[in-house]
Amino acid sequence: DWTSEQFIDATVAELKEQIGNDKVVLGLSGGVDSSVAAMLIHQAIGKNLYCIFVDNGLLRKNEFETVLDSYKHMGLNVKGVDAKEKFYTALAGLTDPEQKRKAIGRVFIEVFDDEAHQIEDVKWLAQGTIYPDVIESMSVKGPSATIKSHHNVGGLPDFMKLKVVEPLKTLFKDEVRLVGRTMEIDETILGRHPFPGPGLAIRILGDITPEKVQVLQQVDHIFISNLKKSGLYDEVWQAGAILTPVQSVGVMGDERTYENVVALRAVTSIDGMTADWSRLPYEFLADVSNEIINKVKGVNRVVYDISSKPPATIEWE
Ligand code: XMP
Repeated sequence: DWTSEQFIDATVAELKEQIGNDKVVLGLSGGVDSSVAAMLIHQAIGKNLYCIFVDNGLLRKNEFETVLDSYKHMGLNVKGVDAKEKFYTALAGLTDPEQKRKAIGRVFIEVFDDEAHQIEDVKWLAQGTIYPDVIESMSVKGPSATIKSHHNVGGLPDFMKLKVVEPLKTLFKDEVRLVGRTMEIDETILGRHPFPGPGLAIRILGDITPEKVQVLQQVDHIFISNLKKSGLYDEVWQAGAILTPVQSVGVMGDERTYENVVALRAVTSIDGMTADWSRLPYEFLADVSNEIINKVKGVNRVVYDISSKPPATIEWE
């Protein structure tokens, strides 16, 4: 007999009591968990919640601007930080997936720490940790886990010395969505597919350049907006595109082309632990493929990933 209304009332009261007049800092990701956590804390303490949303240059096309805008509409006190160059610099030349993840985690912590320092007398760090994250706290995934793994390296970033507040840590994902819905958070945030912390960096096989990010953003945008237009977005658990370093021959008019292959990945899943590839209609795939090849310079071939997890993972890196 859990209801979202009761949960919200009780949690907001508890947060008021716990935090009082202190300042809180929270990193928004554009995802469901951090957004709902922010709204709960915002309801409790208002402008004393300082949200930080970092543009790591690895987000989807227009995502930083769009999401920042919806956060502002939600009344959140949010600062958007353009840190694209810092991430690109740290990633330059790295090809190993784990090294890429580590570099991204490291830069994120630096940027976040710098920003947290600018909030005078901040006392708390809020996180959107949910119950499955608590159970899986040994997992190496997710920004909070990245922070945890840096815990042991010594020289803790200053924001890690803050007291931690995690209002969602007893909830499952569907309960978080219910709470979000009751709080009237935008459906485009609540219904959003999961998106990995390292973003497009793990969907560009090999080294990252801003040019490759731009190509992948265009491809991904065509795929995702067609999923939405066709009403297929909500039937898929997660979807995205992968830029492969493979080049193949094609023809365009009477010209021979030699350009990159992109892969499309869409899966059904309950929790991401296992997954099956989505049986998207052939006609849909045909349209998306044509649009990508016609519009995106540098791509002349599209393939569809028909691997299930296990043994394949959802991401390619
Ligand atoms: P895999 O590829 O392991 O992905 O089947 C399972 C789910 O986890 C996401 N994922 C990540 N999320 N940091 C994240 O925050 C990461 O490094 C990372 N790697 C994978 C993936 O998008 C999928 O939802």
